[in-house]
Amino acid sequence: STATILSTESILSSCMSGMHHGDTVVPQVNSGLFINPLKIPKTVSGNTSLVAQNTTEALMSSSKVSVLGYGEGILGPTIRVKNGENVNINLVNKLSDHTNIHWHGLKIPADMDGHPDQMVMPNETFNYKFKVNQQAGTNWYHPHLHESTAEQVTLGLAGLFIVESDEEKALGLPKDSQEIPLIIQDKRIKADGSINYQPTMKEIMTGYLGENILVNGTSKPFLDVSTRFYRLRILNASSARIYNLALSNKAEFYLIGSDGGLLFQPEPVRNVLISTGERVDILVDFSLAKVGEVVFLKSEPFFTMGNAQGNQPFDIMAFHVKSQATDTFKLPNSLLNFSKLSASTNIRSFTLTMDHMAKEGMHKINNKIYKSNRIDETVVLGSVETWDFDNSIGDEAHPMHIHGANFQLVSRMGGRNAIFPHEKAWKDTVLVGPGEKVRVMIKFEIKGKFVLHCHNLEHEDDGMMLNFEVK
Ligand code: C2O
Ligand code: CU
Ligand code: CU
Repeated sequence: STATILSTESILSSCMSGMHHGDTVVPQVNSGLFINPLKIPKTVSGNTSLVAQNTTEALMSSSKVSVLGYGEGILGPTIRVKNGENVNINLVNKLSDHTNIHWHGLKIPADMDGHPDQMVMPNETFNYKFKVNQQAGTNWYHPHLHESTAEQVTLGLAGLFIVESDEEKALGLPKDSQEIPLIIQDKRIKADGSINYQPTMKEIMTGYLGENILVNGTSKPFLDVSTRFYRLRILNASSARIYNLALSNKAEFYLIGSDGGLLFQPEPVRNVLISTGERVDILVDFSLAKVGEVVFLKSEPFFTMGNAQGNQPFDIMAFHVKSQATDTFKLPNSLLNFSKLSASTNIRSFTLTMDHMAKEGMHKINNKIYKSNRIDETVVLGSVETWDFDNSIGDEAHPMHIHGANFQLVSRMGGRNAIFPHEKAWKDTVLVGPGEKVRVMIKFEIKGKFVLHCHNLEHEDDGMMLNFEVK
């Protein structure tokens, strides 16, 4: 039956052929009953302390196993601040390894951004201090180590960072128990129930794909809802897995935001493809379901995105429609009126390649692997530039992510050949599929040294990253 619900996106991507990895065996997502109540990370202010440490969590069963977290249990708290607020966060490193925090999506000074140069040694503390100056949106934080980001993130170090604003508040979007953060990650689980981050030889090249999908660190989660609108803030914090999100009852839902904040207007969709590092903010109207019904958030097939993931449908979590409610919420006609970038002063091109034969650094940008002390691009502060991420000869998916700036999509040529609804907002991460060339316009408002990289964390760790300096 899943073969009959091909979305536009699936049909478009099914036209892409010639995948080198199409014949390899992909780990299948485990099925099972959705019987664990969804965990919701606690919310804290921007004045807090995050202790990166070895901790325990009941992951797959009720017995606790060791994981990493920022405090007790897997993941970290959701940090919630208002635009304009001053943030003061101590990272205390209680790990046996070095770490740091990158504030993914935040436009903050370079020395606070968690560049892989800036490490916090075991038993040391680093004080992250910055002022939030950007639109309301769903951002996140995670370690950013040279060559080993994937392991710390997969073992549990990640959290959400939500920025609020008065403008957004005025929209009266669903909040409190109707505003649910969903951090989606796939994990491979060892016999003892703990997380196995030992990618196979193939996965070191193409990306780690775990057989178990967790949401907020909950395996097979469910959430009780009532017949009203809910706001789901969704983050794909997986290492490599891409999800084609849809509802099991095939209902429409409304995209209201992406990485860099709100869209111009709610966009009704039936599916959204979310690659690693990306966020989507959606509204789901559960009044379309009946009390007693179960609606699954699932991933629909989207055919191969290079490492042969995508051809298998699976459920991610269950919503139990538990009670009747009267909803006064009205979907707004418009959300945020931001200006479209139209003129740029420079064009740069970034060719994305994968070389199976390379001794080190199989993944390259412009034929180079990452070198921490090399500045690859120099950009004028205050300028708007056009950057092309060129994967036209590639057969893998690369979610390209930029630090210290946001961009708008201009075009996608080849491959899926379209700009999708969630891409019509400010973004910091964009999926550049096999055969695609994606053009973006970037506004550089913060000076300093930042990185551009692929957010497939195995590709990043392999060196698919470069430095640019804004000055
Ligand atoms: Cu979320 Cu440079 O990363
Ligand atoms: Cu980032
Ligand atoms: Cu990549």
